[in-house]
Amino acid sequence: GAEMVINGSSSPTVADRSNESIKHHDRPVPSKWRHNQTLSLKIRKHILKFLDAEKDISVLKGTLKPGDIIHYVFDRDSTMNVSQNLYALLPRTSPLKGKHFRTCAIVGNSGILLNSSCGQEIDAHSFVIRCNLAPVQEYTRDVGSKTDLVTMNPSVIQRAFEDLVNDTWREKLLQRLHSLNGSILWIPAFMAKGGKERVEWVNELILKHHINVRTAYPSLRLLHAVRGYWLTNKVYIKRPTTGLLMYTLATRFCNRIYLYGFWPFPRDQDQNPVKYHYYDSLKYGYTSQTSPHTMPLEFKALKTLHQQGALKLTVGQCE
Ligand code: CTP
Repeated sequence: GAEMVINGSSSPTVADRSNESIKHHDRPVPSKWRHNQTLSLKIRKHILKFLDAEKDISVLKGTLKPGDIIHYVFDRDSTMNVSQNLYALLPRTSPLKGKHFRTCAIVGNSGILLNSSCGQEIDAHSFVIRCNLAPVQEYTRDVGSKTDLVTMNPSVIQRAFEDLVNDTWREKLLQRLHSLNGSILWIPAFMAKGGKERVEWVNELILKHHINVRTAYPSLRLLHAVRGYWLTNKVYIKRPTTGLLMYTLATRFCNRIYLYGFWPFPRDQDQNPVKYHYYDSLKYGYTSQTSPHTMPLEFKALKTLHQQGALKLTVGQCE
């Protein structure tokens, strides 16, 4: 499937058909992308029938109390207790309440970002969303640094911070959290069992060190609602990835949405190898068997939306 998508992506779209572009180049120039405001509004309205990003982005203090029992969304037989710390970190009002942005960037973690020089362009957006506490410091030229919202799957603590086995890793996580100053830290704490301790460690660190982040913990209904929306649109995903979740949420409060770092394929359009993540050595096989995601399928859907002008997907260099 991957190859077909790669080849398909270089085929000219409607905007390419002007003679202008054919005259001066021997291969089709990248399509001239134009935002489709009407379609964007239609998508926002349709998604609102399934979920409301303003509400579903986080459970609020008023709806839970310490000691409450929660069944995990994907492991319904397993439960967790709402701890004092978790309760303390629940927002009182939605961090997105009444928010509207002219343009938003959603930064996925594909290695396609390396050597993209997209940093400045990404940072110029009004609202920048990043995934899974991906590092920015050493990569600013390609990924930028502005961060208004960053997600953190509990598994990140294991994968990127060695489950905080010693003070060095603890310190590393602390540094990363401190660097977020004031942005929204979005932690899917109620999705799958197994992340309980990791979420608790992070909550504890935030409180103990007075870290300046606005924590958010997505609602119990969010994932099924997002999946429902895409299924209705014939995108048969098993479980939406963080990237697709962020796009779906962003339609609510962003007028124009720009995606970077979405490229779930081991080779780029010129057949050069592409790392799975821009910042680590995780391999591609990782997604195929073990993960419930269907990234190439999601990508295909996003590509279609790009061609229709509902979002802009950047998979090459900026400028
Ligand atoms: N992504 C992509 N191509 C890649 C890697 C990531 O399109 N080669 C996008 C996906 O939408 C992904 C997002 O970037 O959800 C963030 O990447 P990552 O942190 O790797 O997410 P996952 O490991 O897929 O974890 P999750 O279960 O949160 O989706």
